[in-house]
Amino acid sequence: MLLEPAEVDRLRTALVQANFTSSGIAKRLGPDATAAAGRHDYRLALRATDSGDPLDTLIRVFVCGQSEPEQRLAEALYPLSVHVARAAGLIIGDQAGVDLEPYGDWWVLADLPAQPGRQLPADHVLGVGGASTTLAGATIRKPVGTALDLGTGCGVQALHLSQQADSVTATDVSPRALSFAATTAALNGVQWELLHGDLLEPVRGRRFDLVVSNPPFVVGPGFATHTYRDSGRAGDGVCAELAAAAPTLLTEGGTLQFLANWVHIDGEDWEDRVAGWFAGSGLDVWAIQRETQDPLDYVRLWLADASEKHDPHRAAQWLDWFSEHRITAVGFGLITARNSGATDPTVVCEDLRQQVEPPLGLRVAEWFERRDWLRDNDLLQARYRLAEGLQLRQEATMGEEGWAVDRQLLAMPNGLRWVEDIDPLILALVSGCTGTLPLRDQLSLLAAAHEVPAEDLEKGLLPVIDHLVERGILVPCGP
Ligand SMILES: C[S@@+](CC[C@H](N)C(=O)[O-])C[C@H]1O[C@@H](n2cnc3c(N)ncnc32)[C@H](O)[C@@H]1O
Repeated sequence: MLLEPAEVDRLRTALVQANFTSSGIAKRLGPDATAAAGRHDYRLALRATDSGDPLDTLIRVFVCGQSEPEQRLAEALYPLSVHVARAAGLIIGDQAGVDLEPYGDWWVLADLPAQPGRQLPADHVLGVGGASTTLAGATIRKPVGTALDLGTGCGVQALHLSQQADSVTATDVSPRALSFAATTAALNGVQWELLHGDLLEPVRGRRFDLVVSNPPFVVGPGFATHTYRDSGRAGDGVCAELAAAAPTLLTEGGTLQFLANWVHIDGEDWEDRVAGWFAGSGLDVWAIQRETQDPLDYVRLWLADASEKHDPHRAAQWLDWFSEHRITAVGFGLITARNSGATDPTVVCEDLRQQVEPPLGLRVAEWFERRDWLRDNDLLQARYRLAEGLQLRQEATMGEEGWAVDRQLLAMPNGLRWVEDIDPLILALVSGCTGTLPLRDQLSLLAAAHEVPAEDLEKGLLPVIDHLVERGILVPCGP
């Protein structure tokens, strides 16, 4: 830990006394200065914080990155002494030495973020970033007994897990990260089991109800210069390793959720690659690809992320490795795997590029509930209604006889916001989903209207109905 427990208590007292919380800061700064500060423009924030009171000083030091006079620092940190804060690295000279950030109702401690022109050290401990909040938002927030945060860093995921789990275990290969995570936990008055070691090593033989990980997923030749970014495994090996561990890591009904990168190899489907990681695992899996990047953009992004000096040789080496392995792109997404004990597990890997209605974690939970329903029920016996607010969109071209509809789409304005191409037969079926007739009867009526055998229609349409139920477009409403 960065500070002795008694000193952490003093730091917390100082932060509480000053009202250095998300809401306290927002109230002091007002909406404009808060929004500008969120974009690293601190001019308004500095104007709003020149009274010299403890909250102003803490905002200037830890939000705006300013130097402050010794007397003001002493008053702002009291009862923690500035001397102790310096010895722990919280303050360097008369400036912040760490990133001390109110996050929701918590505080998170991490290393100072990257500064232009200053290369990050190898053991840099990442603060709360875009990937952290993506995973936090995508996590299924149901109460669980045991939870594990693999690669905890500053402890942001573990903080969230503390709200839903009886016990939280957090691991990291970096002793520096564990020291920050321990301080974050103590500052927020929560207790975690913190374990040091490589990936699954510290928890070998143990099972958890919920495992989350924002791992060092960056794809490359396997060099490791920054712990937060590089796993030391070649390609997407770290994500394949996490997937392979899932069956022995999860309790019955347990869930693993992790952010992942996977390679797109020329002539191969990424879906097959990711599904292959779970072959024979017995787990239900939903892998969603949120975006892709070509190798050049990818390498540039990750070199810039660590503020690495421009090194054409290193970039070229990385790009050559992509070429040698026929990698045309890298996919980024979320993988959720659940140990449901099913004899016929479902593995679905698909693109989900649209903005979904937050929180994504709720959508993920609903997806698994729908898959359970599909496994346990006879599609033909159930009655269906349409998703709330479902829209029909049509594209038409003006011809000699007026508008001719070329394309019809069903669009969900809520939830996962899927948009599905449909043909006139499916549209007729969907339009009849008013919750009154079982599907079997609906199909009989449709078959009679189209003068085709009901069995042929069933055979052709059942996979489509399954798909529409899985997506939440058709909602079962009883047998
Ligand atoms: C991208 S950061 C994520 C930090 C934090 N969990 C979050 O969501 O923001 C990845 C974390 O994994 C840790 N890590 C890297 N390699 C690891 C390994 N082989 N085993 C365990 N942890 C590792 C890093 O030290 C870092 O803290």
